[in-house]
Amino acid sequence: PDEPIVLGIETSCDETGVGIVRGRALLANAIASSVDEHARFGGVVPEVASRAHLEAIGPTVERALAQANLRLSDIDAVAVTAGPGLAGALLVGVAAAKAYAMGLGVPLYGVNHLAAHVAVDQLEHGPLPKPCVALLVSGGHSSLLLVPDVATEVIELGSTVDDAAGEAFDKVARLLGLPFPGGPHIDRTAAEGSATAIGFPRGKYDDGTLDFSFSGLKTAVARWIEARQAAGESIPVADVAASFQEAVVDVLTRKAVQACERHGVKDLLIGGGVAANSRLRALAEERCAAAGVRLRVPRPGLCTDNGAMVAALGADLIAAGVEPSSLDMPADSSLPI
Ligand code: KG4
Ligand code: ZN
Repeated sequence: PDEPIVLGIETSCDETGVGIVRGRALLANAIASSVDEHARFGGVVPEVASRAHLEAIGPTVERALAQANLRLSDIDAVAVTAGPGLAGALLVGVAAAKAYAMGLGVPLYGVNHLAAHVAVDQLEHGPLPKPCVALLVSGGHSSLLLVPDVATEVIELGSTVDDAAGEAFDKVARLLGLPFPGGPHIDRTAAEGSATAIGFPRGKYDDGTLDFSFSGLKTAVARWIEARQAAGESIPVADVAASFQEAVVDVLTRKAVQACERHGVKDLLIGGGVAANSRLRALAEERCAAAGVRLRVPRPGLCTDNGAMVAALGADLIAAGVEPSSLDMPADSSLPI
């Protein structure tokens, strides 16, 4: 009852997310997605995303309040994704959050999108072990983080040097004629194929770093398909999907477990949209069990971009006594962790 009620706003990409928490209790998680408007372009179009956020932000706040059975005047603090993300998209959320905070006379907390992906797990599985390692994989980011304390100390151990994991899923899906966003389609199609049918390359597999690279894999898939087509042969879509997916999740899980081992950490969290991938979950479970690492994966609705994750991190910042942001806080498209 004495825990603060936090409104969280997320607009870094194509989801307008508004969540409400009371401490670690999830009260509301409303989402408006513009993904259908981007589908015909085969990727997220920044201008389209910004306009969609502008139209959706007010109604989505209203829906979240209705879900939580609260009024605006019940809100004790406003948290918002300050970055990283699409500049114009972030701006809409940040401007809205400032307006709500100023209008309500409550503190504003600008939060890091990646840290919020980590913090959200507490709404489902309780306090985060300190430290833990987080593997964040989505259409916009692929990072390994060491998390001594999600509110105050998050350290980047590695990240992709080119494409994000979800981006690779989406690009390969496109090569296979599957709709955008392609990750879920590859996941489903792969279930009917063989993961060992084609030996696609695993970028940076043994390079000793905790970084990722997926553009070489994407190119290898494109070349493989072109060669088949040039020879007049049909494309075994399920086998390509399964073999590609295996190459991605093999590197992701290998490096995630390596990160835990190198830093003596016994808890791994996987978040971001790609965390919904069934093969990633299965292989992560297998490899974590073998390494004596406990695995936490939030449910899919909390893995993809949402407002509850921002509210959750806002609540952590308040609990940690972190100073609120100023009302002239900028949106920062390349905000470091
Ligand atoms: O976190 P998210 O909703 O948005 C950001 O990109 O921040 O992640 C979306 C990404 C897309 O690239 C989508 O293809 C991928 O997550 N994705 C999946 C699956 N579900 C979503 N990738 C692989 N397997 C899935 N089941
Ligand atoms: Zn995200």
